[in-house]
Amino acid sequence: MSFDLVLFGGTGDLAWRKLLPALFQAFRHGSLPEEGRIIGVARDDLSDAAYRELIASRFAAVEGDKRPNAEEFERFAALLHYQRMDLSRPADYAALGARLAERQADTVVMYLATAPGLFTTACEQLGAAGLATPHTRVVLEKPLGHDLASNRAINAAVRRVFDEEQIFRIDHYLGKPSVQNLLALRFGNALFEPLWRRETVASIEITMAEKLGVEKRGAFYDGTGALRDMVQNHALQLLCAIGMEPPINAHADAIRDEKLKVLRSLVPWTPATLSRDVVRGQYTAGSLGGERVRGYAEEDGVPADSRTETFVALRTEIANWRWAGVPFYVRTGKRLASHEAHIAINFRPTPHAIYRTPLGSANRLVIHLQPRDGVALHLFAAGQEKRGMRISEVQALAPVHLDLDFEQRFGTERVGAYERLLLDVIAGRLNLFVRADEQEAAWRWVEPIMQSWRDSEDGPRPYAAGSWGPSAASAMVAREGHSWMEES
Ligand code: BG6
Repeated sequence: MSFDLVLFGGTGDLAWRKLLPALFQAFRHGSLPEEGRIIGVARDDLSDAAYRELIASRFAAVEGDKRPNAEEFERFAALLHYQRMDLSRPADYAALGARLAERQADTVVMYLATAPGLFTTACEQLGAAGLATPHTRVVLEKPLGHDLASNRAINAAVRRVFDEEQIFRIDHYLGKPSVQNLLALRFGNALFEPLWRRETVASIEITMAEKLGVEKRGAFYDGTGALRDMVQNHALQLLCAIGMEPPINAHADAIRDEKLKVLRSLVPWTPATLSRDVVRGQYTAGSLGGERVRGYAEEDGVPADSRTETFVALRTEIANWRWAGVPFYVRTGKRLASHEAHIAINFRPTPHAIYRTPLGSANRLVIHLQPRDGVALHLFAAGQEKRGMRISEVQALAPVHLDLDFEQRFGTERVGAYERLLLDVIAGRLNLFVRADEQEAAWRWVEPIMQSWRDSEDGPRPYAAGSWGPSAASAMVAREGHSWMEES
């Protein structure tokens, strides 16, 4: 099978940080179809050779075993081409068309790793230039709009040119092996299904914590914030993966139908829940790993009086038979104490205690998304009872973990999120991509939060870089007798 992958934004941050390294890994391990071209597109005036040099210099900065050796890069570089384009100029699309016509690849992928403001123009122009053929797929990076109306406008414009089956909306969390494993755990094993419900589950926590600040993306981030950057997409997709009903089969629409039902079942916001169940924060200067770091408002590109949130914690419920009344807690933020993402399913305690168990104890299933990728079941065992114990220790239980680390189990050569998703695009598999109606339902649900923040006189709560966010986030879960995982 032959392919042409046209990478709009070919010299941009995402291209050289994520996409080209992912394509290189796929190439290195023989997963990328041999007959391929990767055509970087940007406004700069570059030749193919200059583009290859540019990418080589970026790759040279990569550390560790992901860094290509010269011979490997040379082979990969043969796939790299460059096309200078101004995305508003029809003539430039005609030139791209001539380039694509050189070889009539089986599949042409238009990857829009550009500012979202260009999605509509790019799609319209591709259509007008006759470049949206049945062999074409279009990949849209997030953020797809900044609210429901802009998201709908983009989706409508793209669908005037491409069919839904040709549109690949990326949420890179769906490409993470840990998310595949969450689905495999639920739908490849019968064991958990009877427990996966309100009768046995007390609460569910989704945490996506980053130590990183906004890096060089201050100006972009300030117009976005954590709610749009992480909650509207990644967090809600994780919530769907936990909350959805078993799909009737593994086809893309069967899965996406179930996710959509979850999004539509999220309890709508009221003024009371908006003020009680949503906490927003912004980091101030602090210390991380022994290093002083500046506050968000001092970051480059960020106005000193910015009210943009770098932290969100919220509580919601899925109003259906399986989950009614079970709190789903979501928390994400930058410059937090740890770089980790996990989902914790907290089970109800035993109905009647015959042992002495640690305070607040109950079983918990943890899906570790990163930095490690694994599943741990937190249980209690009578391990304490050993010779010489004090009489008071008899019948005291100790917490133990059944721990499965997927990297150790399956080896370290695992396929990264972008690599997996790019291969899926080339193969035309839509399972791990987001459908327009899902995306719209997610925007519809976060909009009242954005509106309430706009209306509020208060800004985000400050939290020191290196902490776990504003204390109000802990208070929010403590109200119901819960605690975030690292605090329990
Ligand atoms: C991106 C956000 O979608 O996800 C970034 O725009 C964030 O702000 C990143 O840092 C987190 O992804 P990961 O895979 O590092 O958890």
